Amino acid sequence: MKIIEVNDYQEMSKQAADYISNRVRKLPSLTLGLSTGGTPLGLYKNLIEDYKENHTSYQKVKTFNLDEYVGLAQTNPNSYRYYMNDIFFNHINIDKSKTNIPRGDVDDVEREALDYEQLIERSGGVDIQILGIGSNGHIGFNEPGTSFDSKTHIVELATSTREANARFFNNLEEVPTRAITMGIATIMKSKEILLLISGESKKEALANLMFGEIHEGFPASILRNHPAVTVIVDKAAIAESKVH
Ligand code: PGA
Repeated sequence: MKIIEVNDYQEMSKQAADYISNRVRKLPSLTLGLSTGGTPLGLYKNLIEDYKENHTSYQKVKTFNLDEYVGLAQTNPNSYRYYMNDIFFNHINIDKSKTNIPRGDVDDVEREALDYEQLIERSGGVDIQILGIGSNGHIGFNEPGTSFDSKTHIVELATSTREANARFFNNLEEVPTRAITMGIATIMKSKEILLLISGESKKEALANLMFGEIHEGFPASILRNHPAVTVIVDKAAIAESKVH
């Protein structure tokens, strides 16, 4: 893993955006793996600014999001389809038919998971996957205990994950209990991974990622076996984690 240490969230977001926009300029038909949540908000904001200033084109870019809640319609502001349109896609020249997010609102979500995995494979796979990390080490919605061999599948969300995400809902009860997520093997197949870690609440996760044992109890630990992972991490997440 290549670790890039930055001062704060702003700097992390800017560096991540430079990394992605440079790659899109080099390969306009890049396939990006995208993530949601609090961490990548600044990245998307910077990418939109770059799009406005430098006219980086997303016309040929294809995207695959990591995950989606089960049971939320795409028009629900808490669905990840809504988030992606609202936060990013509506502000750049991407062709929405090339943007893929698993559907959590279909009758047969198990079938949807199988189809999504195949769709990624058939399209030639993800070139760069953007990732965040949960404080319990989850990547995507792969909670501790998920098999390292898992492909896109349906998961029961951990209480800690539902509590962490309750800030986006009116209350904890509204947070869905299930999600559809790329599996760990799916994530590991992406050619490159850009992992963003910011803030004090991720200190322990960073320390476990760097120095813990590689095991299914801490899903992100498997990233140490991936040949091309770049981690951009801010000072608040590093403090006391003794990365140095
Ligand atoms: P966050 O979530 O960016 O909202 O902290 C990260 C994650 O759970 O993967």
